[in-house]
Amino acid sequence: MFASLIGLIGLLWRVDAAAVVSGRAFDRFISIWLENQDFAKVAADPDFTDIRKHGILQTRYYAQTHPSQPNYLAAVGGDYFGLDHDEFLRIPENVSTIVDLLDTRQIGWRGYFEGNPGPGYMAVGSISSSQSTPDGNWDYVRKHNPFVSYDSVNKNGTRLLNLLSFKDFEIDLAAGAVPQFVMMSPDVLNDGHNTTLDYATKWARQFVMPLLADGVFSEKTLIQLTYDETEDYAEPNRIVSLLLGNAVPDSLRGSTDDTFYTHYSILATMEHNWELPNLGRFDVGANVFKLVTDVTGYVNSDPPNAATANNSVSYAGPYNRNHTTKLATIAPPNLQLTGAGGLPVLEAIRQEWATQAEADTPYDGTGNVYDGDNMPVYRPQGQNVG
Ligand SMILES: *[C@@H]1O[C@H](CO)[C@@H](O)[C@H](O)[C@H]1NC(C)=O
Ligand SMILES: *[C@@H]1O[C@H](CO)[C@@H](O)[C@H](O)[C@H]1NC(C)=O
Ligand SMILES: *[C@@H]1O[C@H](CO)[C@@H](O)[C@H](O)[C@H]1NC(C)=O
Ligand SMILES: *[C@@H]1O[C@H](CO)[C@@H](O)[C@H](O)[C@H]1NC(C)=O
Ligand SMILES: *[C@@H]1O[C@H](CO)[C@@H](O)[C@H](O)[C@H]1NC(C)=O
Repeated sequence: MFASLIGLIGLLWRVDAAAVVSGRAFDRFISIWLENQDFAKVAADPDFTDIRKHGILQTRYYAQTHPSQPNYLAAVGGDYFGLDHDEFLRIPENVSTIVDLLDTRQIGWRGYFEGNPGPGYMAVGSISSSQSTPDGNWDYVRKHNPFVSYDSVNKNGTRLLNLLSFKDFEIDLAAGAVPQFVMMSPDVLNDGHNTTLDYATKWARQFVMPLLADGVFSEKTLIQLTYDETEDYAEPNRIVSLLLGNAVPDSLRGSTDDTFYTHYSILATMEHNWELPNLGRFDVGANVFKLVTDVTGYVNSDPPNAATANNSVSYAGPYNRNHTTKLATIAPPNLQLTGAGGLPVLEAIRQEWATQAEADTPYDGTGNVYDGDNMPVYRPQGQNVG
């Protein structure tokens, strides 16, 4: 009985792992985040130069703000809600993320965070046994794990179980069971946070190159190597993002892409690739990675204020500690937007926020970028502008 139960679980697991939802240009996306480097310094680094030959360098990719944490949160939630610090926060359950969008098509996802002691771990940091940190320093940090701060993830056991460690990634990779949407943060040594530019690019090279070998992924896999934010807070927040993997056509290896992107482009690209609904936030209007639009003919455009993009300080919002104008509540999504997937705002969001359908919103679908010196303007909800 026990043996047959194990057999049944094994069978279910294999069936589950095999149910791949095809995308328009890729079937799997793995985003790997390094820390705090300016575009020009990374582009000149010898290890990075080596990796770059295999991919597409996105030359106009901006992080959202400083410091780290809001950038990670923005990439999965479509806003950072004014956050201007790395401290503990919990975002209420009625704020949706990429996870809710992926669920509509049962696309599997996981977050792998090096040294993560356990799925629901929410302390500021932890010492893992995988690294030699005998001095008792942290290596895993909560601020580099975007999912755990969203109550829509951390209050749901099924979702929480997807917040794993790099050891789990190795296991999933060996089993051919890496899900279709993945975010990964190396620990604070390997991601360069407590080390150097060079330390992190050396780590990235040895980690990423084996993933590019023939046969490692049987489905079309797109791997993004990116940075959360720049090091220099006085310069516009332009970072490196490099697209790798067998989803990158041979003809584009070693090329550059000058389309304007931000971390919200991760959301827009997933929505477009898998025809997903949207979050009704800054995901709508963000450009879609060109390697996908090359296939579909979707038209990207520069946001009207691209020329002055800076993104160095956070705008006002409920998690902001600096602004004198206090915004007590999370902005309502614009329930009338159509996203890059060609679909409306997720049905569950429209229901959850129905009482706020007449409220002003900062989200207009233009793709404009906002920061503390160029604040979002709240207007009545309506269809995409422009
Ligand atoms: C990294 O630096 C922070 C201070 O910025 C420190 O608290 C932490 O222990 C350091 N971790 C390691 C592994 O060096
Ligand atoms: C919990 O997560 C699962 C998997 O994402 C989802 O199907 C379910 O609806 C969620 N439950 C609640 C109460 O949100
Ligand atoms: C970007 O914003 C920062 C912070 O407000 C400011 O110090 C810097 O001068 C701005 N840079 C440009 C080019 O506007
Ligand atoms: C979302 O949740 C927060 C925290 O529970 C609550 O204050 C707010 O009223 C909710 N918003 C809506 C539209 O239900
Ligand atoms: C605080 O807000 C002001 C007004 O937007 C902005 O100019 C300034 O750079 C912000 N400072 C910090 C540390 O975020």
